[in-house]
This record gives sequence, C-alpha cells and structure tokens, in this order.
Amino acid sequence: MSAMGGTMEQYQRILVTSCKGGVGKSTVSANLANALIKRGKRVLLVDMDLGNRSLDIMLGFEDSALFDVCDVAAGRASAERALLCSEGREGMFFCPAPYLFDGDLTAEGLNSALLAMEAYCAPDYTILDTSGGADCSVQLSAECAKRAIIVTTPAPTAVRAAEKSGDLLVGHGVEDLMLVVSGMETDPRNAGEHYGVNEMIDRTSVRIVGIVPRDAKLALLGERGLLCGENKRIKAISERAFDNIAARLDGEQVPLLYKVRGIRNRKKLLMSGRGSR
Ligand SMILES: Nc1ncnc2c1ncn2[C@@H]1O[C@H](COP(=O)(O)OP(=O)(O)O)[C@@H](O)[C@H]1O
Ligand SMILES: [Mg+2]
Repeated sequence: MSAMGGTMEQYQRILVTSCKGGVGKSTVSANLANALIKRGKRVLLVDMDLGNRSLDIMLGFEDSALFDVCDVAAGRASAERALLCSEGREGMFFCPAPYLFDGDLTAEGLNSALLAMEAYCAPDYTILDTSGGADCSVQLSAECAKRAIIVTTPAPTAVRAAEKSGDLLVGHGVEDLMLVVSGMETDPRNAGEHYGVNEMIDRTSVRIVGIVPRDAKLALLGERGLLCGENKRIKAISERAFDNIAARLDGEQVPLLYKVRGIRNRKKLLMSGRGSR
C-alpha cells in the first residue's frame, strides 16, 4: 500500500475516459501507449470499452483477438494467452475487450486480471481505455486505478462531459486527474464556438497534459490498424503531441505544443475561443 491509500499498481494505472463518445479516447490511449514504448517504457494497454471494443482494429489485431479481459478475470485464459504483441512495438502488450459483454465482471475480477497481466509483462504504465458514458466500464476501471486522463474536444458539449467525468472520477476515489484536449483546430480562424485552452482548464479544474491537433490522418491510420509513425506515407501532425504527453507523464517539462507541426498561431490558438470574447 502507498501512503496515499492505494496500491502501487493503482498509481501505475491510468484510465482514459470522458462521458462522451467519439472524442478520441481510444486514439489517445493507443498512440500514448506507442509514444511511451518509444521512450523505452513497457505498457499494458487494456481495452475496457465493454460496450463497443475498437482498439483491436486500431492496433491491427482484428483477427487475432481470441481472449479478452473477462476471460482473464474468469480464469478462462492466462495472461500469456490473452495478451497480444506485435513486431515493431517492443514493450507494448494489448488485452482486448470482449466482443459481447455479458455483464460478468466485478472490480475484484478486473483487479485480479490486471495483476495477473502486470505480473506477466511488468509494465511501467497500464492504460485502461474506457467507453464514453458513465457505464460500468468506467466504474470498474476507476476502482482499479488512481490516475485518469479525461479526453475532451474543445467543443462546449465535450467540455461539459469532461467536467462531469472529473466529478464522477473523484467520487470513485481517483486521485490524479489529467486533461487531454483532442481535435484542436490548427487554425484559430476555424475554432468557431470552441473553447480556448484556458477556459477548458477553468471549467474542468483539471490540469492539462496534452493538446492533440485535429488531424485527419489519425482516422486513416486507425482504420488500417496503424499508430502514428508506422507508415512513412501517412505523416500525422499529431505524432509529436502524443510524444509530448508521454514526456509529461514521465515527469519531463515540455511545452504543450512542443514541435507540433501545422499550427498556425500558437498563442491565439491557446487563448482563442468563447472565453476570450
Ligand atoms: N485529434 C484528432 N483529429 C481528428 N480526428 C480524430 C482525432 N482523434 C480521434 N479522431 C477520430 O475520431 C474518431 C473517434 O475517435 P476514437 O478515438 O475512437 O474516440 P472514442 O474512443 O472517444 O470514442 C475516429 O475516427 C478517430 O480517428
Ligand atoms: Mg473508444
């Protein structure tokens, strides 16, 4: 047990969530895991979207996802059998969500599955990609983790959902909340009714650890089962943004948009939006 009341593993685990679907949680989970292994870290990435799994496709494991986190929890599969690895992603271990969740997973079951997988792959970080909405995937994950990344877009509806996520997570005993803004317009002239960064921090009261620009290449990569940097012809401007989040998690002080390409007016981008008018 640590001084703060959780186990060492619970502080190593980061759940990625938002009360809203489609804001980029799975994209952040997968590409953050990739950025961390590029730094030499080991990462266990668990698809906890029990309603609609998608990481298996985004990681190129669509046909090889045989066992899932519920199988490990129920003792139907060992960690070794359930975890998927791929060449070129040294240090990344992936556990799929069930294709069809039958409701049979408790926090104790999830915790024991995570412990078994962590004992097998010895990760520096365990990333739990949860579903949008306040369903049991978030609740179960929150019972097992003390840290969380809330993902939001700069759109007012998504920021409202992020605010709510923060409240829910604190209620579940999560201690360290971080905010990642995904889909930030690269040109402030297109930001419309979007919030600026300062206002997002004010509204959510959560410290910001990353800004991922709006990047159409992410969808293309995801549909092909690829992560940023894995295809020379698909150059994602967001790759650096994920590297920056990984660096910050590792305790390095890097500016939010350090070396992120394609941003037109950084200062305006950070300050622009509803709050500045
Ligand atoms: N920064 C971004 N810029 C543009 N599109 C993005 C960005 N992040 C995610 N997307 C796309 O948005 C869609 C939803 O992303 P996903 O990560 O599946 O969201 P969630 O897990 O929150 O439901 C996907 O098609 C994904 O490729
Ligand atoms: Mg998702």
